[in-house]
Amino acid sequence: MIFSSLKLNKDEPIYIQVENHIKESIEKGMLQKGSKLPSTREVSSFLNISRNSVVVAYENLEIDGIIKSSRGKGTFVTIEASKPKNEFNIDWGTRINSYGSICESMDILKTELPWEKNMISFKSIAPEENLFDIEEFKRAFLDVISLEGNKILNYGYAKGYKPLLEYLMDYMKSKGINTEGKDILVTNGFTEGFDIIINTLTEPGDVIICENPTHNTAIKIMKAHGLDIIGVPMNEDGIDTKSLEKALENTSPKFAYIIPSYHNPTGIVMNGEKRQEVLNIFQKHSIPVIEDGFNEELLYTSSPVPSLASFCTDGNGVVYVGSLSKILFPGLRLGWMFGDRDLINTLESVKRARTIHSSFIDQGIFYHYMKSGAFDKYVKKVRKHYKDKYEFTLKQVNKHIPYESITGEGGLHIFIKLKGINAREVLQKCYEKGVVFTPGDIFYTDGGGEDTFRIGFSRVSEEDIEKGIKVIGEVINSIKNL
Ligand SMILES: Cc1ncc(COP(=O)(O)O)c(C=O)c1O
Repeated sequence: MIFSSLKLNKDEPIYIQVENHIKESIEKGMLQKGSKLPSTREVSSFLNISRNSVVVAYENLEIDGIIKSSRGKGTFVTIEASKPKNEFNIDWGTRINSYGSICESMDILKTELPWEKNMISFKSIAPEENLFDIEEFKRAFLDVISLEGNKILNYGYAKGYKPLLEYLMDYMKSKGINTEGKDILVTNGFTEGFDIIINTLTEPGDVIICENPTHNTAIKIMKAHGLDIIGVPMNEDGIDTKSLEKALENTSPKFAYIIPSYHNPTGIVMNGEKRQEVLNIFQKHSIPVIEDGFNEELLYTSSPVPSLASFCTDGNGVVYVGSLSKILFPGLRLGWMFGDRDLINTLESVKRARTIHSSFIDQGIFYHYMKSGAFDKYVKKVRKHYKDKYEFTLKQVNKHIPYESITGEGGLHIFIKLKGINAREVLQKCYEKGVVFTPGDIFYTDGGGEDTFRIGFSRVSEEDIEKGIKVIGEVINSIKNL
């Protein structure tokens, strides 16, 4: 009540005191323009004064244009307080810690050449949204709302929506993985899962080993946490095992981060033998492996390559981070971590401390969508679509781009190495001609890769792929001939 701070005195008429109190309240900002005043009856009973005094005060204020009564609605303040100037300024730039500074300086959406309307962009490796089956998604949404409407909108468990956890556990089993002694935590995509792992297992200055090049977001997260990254070079079939052995002779990393399928950015799929060999090396040195299972579902061959987790039959040395982001609904931001039960138990507490849990309504929709069989149908459709597009892009690259080597067995991108030509110089010239792609150096842990770039084709039409690749080829040839 606005009048609770009014202490009436005996020297002035009551109506004047009521009037002044309202004026002061407006000046101090306690009453804003549009605020409703209590009725004259309420004020008289609250202050124990005659109603007439309040009526007179309100009438005077209305004559002065300070308040306005409206029949049936009440009395409202009509003027703005003249706000005193308050320059409480902070120089926020000087207060950003190293985590914030690194995240910002490595934010490629801010630092790289921006995509502009009507440009042909090979930057994205997000799925083609026109392939999403929205009708099935709507059905899944209606199912979850009609079955669990109220409940699912309340707080849920940090680990995740129980039916989805069970579904994902069966899904991991269907990949030939032994789920005994394992558990699952649902996260906001791979990105949060990786961040949770790092927050839980590392201290600044710790060493992490990974492929070089590797996923740019993973590099950013590791650097932001002050970790020391050892990038091991790659061959055509994945991480170079000789270099890996050598690196492990001299260092003892906290864990290894490996992307076995459609590696980002090289597109390389490690074959089964190589996966076994790589796992043996880490096992020999007791280095846990964080396996990034992204894109695995896209494998175009009929016999899927077993994941690293499935080679670790009875052990707990591999944590598998699953994400369907490159295939299905990345906007839902859902992924999962599968690994040792005790470890997941701790990760669950970290997840709860950070965000409490991932959205239950999203998890519910995702579960109903997956369970309905829509996902299996969808994956078959998109595999064919992306395989055709990959082959088309490869054909165009072979026709127009003079490269030293290309890697990528499918997936949503192709990685190109030029013969001693700087990819950023090519990018700048292509940008002027309305074509953009991702320069390869952002994926390197050691500042290398200046003659490489990634072509993401998933969201580009065949017509634009042909046009865009031709432009890139012409620019490279023009630089070569200089
Ligand atoms: C190597 C790799 N892993 C995982 C992801 C998916 O991340 P998220 O699930 O956070 O969208 C990406 C996306 O680009 C990626 O390149």
